[in-house]
Formats: sequence, C-alpha cells, structure tokens
Amino acid sequence: MYKPSKRSFLILAGGAGAGAMALTFAPRLLTAKTSPTSFDNSFVVPPLAQGQRQGKKIQFMLNLQQSEHHFFPDKLTPTLGVNGSYLGPVIRVNRGDEVGLQVNNQCGEPSVLHWHGLKLPAVMDGGPHQSRPSGSSWAAEFTIRQAASTCWYHSHQHRQTGPQVYRGLAGLFMIDDEVSQTLDLPSEYGVDDIPLIVQDRDFNADGSFQYVNGMPEIMHGKHGNTVLVNGVITPTLNAQRSLLRLRLINASNARIYNFAFSDNRPFHVIASDGGFLPQVASVRHLVLSPAERAEILLDVSDRQPVILKSLAGAIGGGMMGRMMGNMGFDQTMEILKINPSQAEASTHPIPIVLPQPELLNVKTAEISRPMLLNMSMGMMQQHSSSGSSSMFINGQSFDMNRVDFEVERDTPEIWTIMNASPIAHPFHIHNAQFQILDRNGKQVASHETGLKDTVLVNSGETVRLLMMFQHYSDSKHAYMYHCHNLEHEDQGMMGQFTVV
Ligand code: C2O
Ligand code: CU
Ligand code: CU
Repeated sequence: MYKPSKRSFLILAGGAGAGAMALTFAPRLLTAKTSPTSFDNSFVVPPLAQGQRQGKKIQFMLNLQQSEHHFFPDKLTPTLGVNGSYLGPVIRVNRGDEVGLQVNNQCGEPSVLHWHGLKLPAVMDGGPHQSRPSGSSWAAEFTIRQAASTCWYHSHQHRQTGPQVYRGLAGLFMIDDEVSQTLDLPSEYGVDDIPLIVQDRDFNADGSFQYVNGMPEIMHGKHGNTVLVNGVITPTLNAQRSLLRLRLINASNARIYNFAFSDNRPFHVIASDGGFLPQVASVRHLVLSPAERAEILLDVSDRQPVILKSLAGAIGGGMMGRMMGNMGFDQTMEILKINPSQAEASTHPIPIVLPQPELLNVKTAEISRPMLLNMSMGMMQQHSSSGSSSMFINGQSFDMNRVDFEVERDTPEIWTIMNASPIAHPFHIHNAQFQILDRNGKQVASHETGLKDTVLVNSGETVRLLMMFQHYSDSKHAYMYHCHNLEHEDQGMMGQFTVV
C-alpha cells in the first residue's frame, strides 16, 4: 500500500554495501550559510480559522490542498496546505465547546488530520485509521475537556506523516478557558501573544523541498539547514509591546532545538504542552523536541534587538553529539530576530502567579507499562530487504492490524520509557496529558513539572510518566503512541492501544 516510501528505502538500502554503520554516520554535505542571517523577511502571524459558532457549538472547515508557496521571492515551492498554501489556520476554541471539524481531503493523496494533545474519543482522533482518500471527507466532533493550552494538528497518514507534514500539513489548535482568560498575561493575539511555529527545511536549487535523501536522514530523521517561523524563512518580528508571550511550537520533523536568545537573557516558561506550569520557570535556554510546546514570557523593555537561536549541544554531547553536530543535526541556528525599538510599554507584570494545573493526585499506580525504544543499526541492509522495519517499541514495529494493549479507563498508569538506542526520541501519547515522574530516577527541571503529551527521552535514559485515560472508552478504535521524530514514526516506532 505504501510502496513509494518502501521502495526508496530499498534503493537506499542497496547502496549500503560496505556496512551500514559507516554509511549511517557518513557526514553529509552542509549547505549552511557562510554569511550572517539577514532576517529580511517580515514576520507572519498565523491566521485564525473562521469558525461558525452557535452557542457552545463551533464548526470549522479544513481543506487539505496541493499548492505552491513563496518561501523565496523568485521561486515557487510545491506544497500542501490547509485552507492555504502552507500550514493551516489556527483553530481557537474554549473549554466546553463542542467542536466540529470537517476535513475535506483534496490534496491528491490519502491523508488525515490528527488533533495533537487533545483528549477525545478514539474515533475522532485523526490517527492513521481515520485516513481518507483524496476527494473525500471526514468529520470529527468532540467536546473540549481540558485546560487552556497550545496544541496543534498535523497529518498522521500511515507511513507518510513525515513527508506530508514536511510539505505543510500542520497548524495550531489553541484552547482557552475561564482561568486563562482572566490571568494578567499578554493575550492580544498577534500583538503580544504570538505563536512561533518552528520548522527546518532543505530546499533544492529550483525552490522545491528536499526531503530525505540518504540513510542518515532516515536514521536521525529529516533535518534541514533553513529555519521557518510560521512558514517564513528567518523573519524579523517588530515587537509592539515590551513584554511578549511567545508560544513556541516545535513542528519540525526531527530537529531538537535548544532555544536561547543571542544575549543569553533569561526568559520565563509559563506553560508546557498541556497548559500552565505549577510555577514560572525562569531559564536561559530551553530544549524542545519535535511536537513539544512551551509558552514563554520575554522581556524586551530594553528595546534592544535580540535573536532567537538554537544552541548546539541539546542532544547530550558525547561521541554521538559530536557526530550529529558534524552532520548538521545539532548545530547552532538563528531562527528569528525580534526588534522592539518601537514597542509600547507592557502593562503586564512578571513574574506572575500561575493557576495550578490539574495534576493527578496520586504519585503511584498499580498498572505499569515498560516501553523499550530501540532501532536496528544494520537497519538499512537485512531488515528492509525482508520488508520489515528498523524502529521498534518493545521489539515490535507498528502494525495497523495489531492493537498492542488495552488500558482501563479512569485507572492511573505509569509508563516507563527506556531508550536503548544511540539517539534521542520524543515519545508522544495520544489522548493524554501526562506528568513526568522522573528521569533516570531524578526529579525533572521545573519547566517539565506540568502536563505534557510529548517527552524527550535521551539515549540511555529512562523516563517514567504518570497518566490516566478519562471520559472515553471504545474497544474497537485505538489511539497511537509513538516517537514524534516523524521519520522514526513512519519507520514503525509506533504502537496502539484501546481504552476500555
Ligand atoms: Cu503529533 Cu501521533 O502525533
Ligand atoms: Cu498526537
Ligand atoms: Cu525516534
């Protein structure tokens, strides 16, 4: 069914010849710029989706389409978009809303949109089972039962999630609630409350996207040398206020960012994937792996321009870190310039007292599930030629027809994620906002003490997660859990469970 990706995998495998190890770690050509980043492009605020509201009911229409987009003034890039040429509009709803999402697939290939971070019935989840062929549609309908947070949506097409997200099938899903609306926080959308959808891409000379073209890019996931913010290459944001609330979304296929500012100034993390943190976490850098989100407050009252960067060294250093650095998977990158010279003084204070997240009030659970992440290092040779995959959870690759386990509704569970592979994996669970109990037995940093749906598990690390599945059960339809490195997901580092 998914011949294209399998075939290209085999072609690559054919070239492996003299040993997969050597080839896997072969340095690739870097096209990194030699001149400093110019930040010539204007910042774009992602448009809000226009929903049709009737009381608590709100209905959105999302058209998946093939398009072309100007990332460069003189070149057009073939893309996929949702109601537009690249990415999609921001779906913004309130807790308690009954949301309807009509997804019309006109993108020329089978696809589906998944509502990442949302708690919802399995059949509304937009996982690979809800895929529709081009020319048909799918309607999701569910009630928002969770706290204010910055979630997102993206393609979850079986074995095509990586390429479809890369070409543009993603957008934001923002939830507000009564608490978030009364907090003394910057909250004027696009003025002092600004989403930053961060993605990295490679482009061919003709302007087209360059997706995976070698084994390192399958093993490590697709990394690009050009950074997009809200679909614009390294833009300049002219800040209108002296205090900014930035909603950082790592919507990249595989790159792990270590966000920091050019003058190393501190900033204040107020929210993680599932909503507000128990308390503000003041930091000078922040690691976000694919699919992770954070809301930060940035003080620009000095009116000095500052650059949002990603520092190298996010992924653990050591031999593997050096190799990945050499391959361009862990280099310093400039992302966005913020120019606050015309910013008005903000009326909002920092620090602020945050509302308490709805954490489970147990510290332990009867049910415990080990999740061993592994990958085959000789993957490109033996395994792919026999048609099987090279990325595993508990020794198995994803199978659409195998439900890995059943979960009991309203019962706390601890999942123990163990990374036995040489590289880091962002582990994501559908229909969940979990708490991180510990990393290698140690307490986590304060920015990780809130609700999360994705957690970075470094090589050799064991991370324990506490969660409970509420509200919905369905013995027939499954939810996914997987690595959110999209190339790893497409290669099978995924499983599925039902809630009964
Ligand atoms: Cu963000 Cu299963 O996905
Ligand atoms: Cu998800
Ligand atoms: Cu992975």
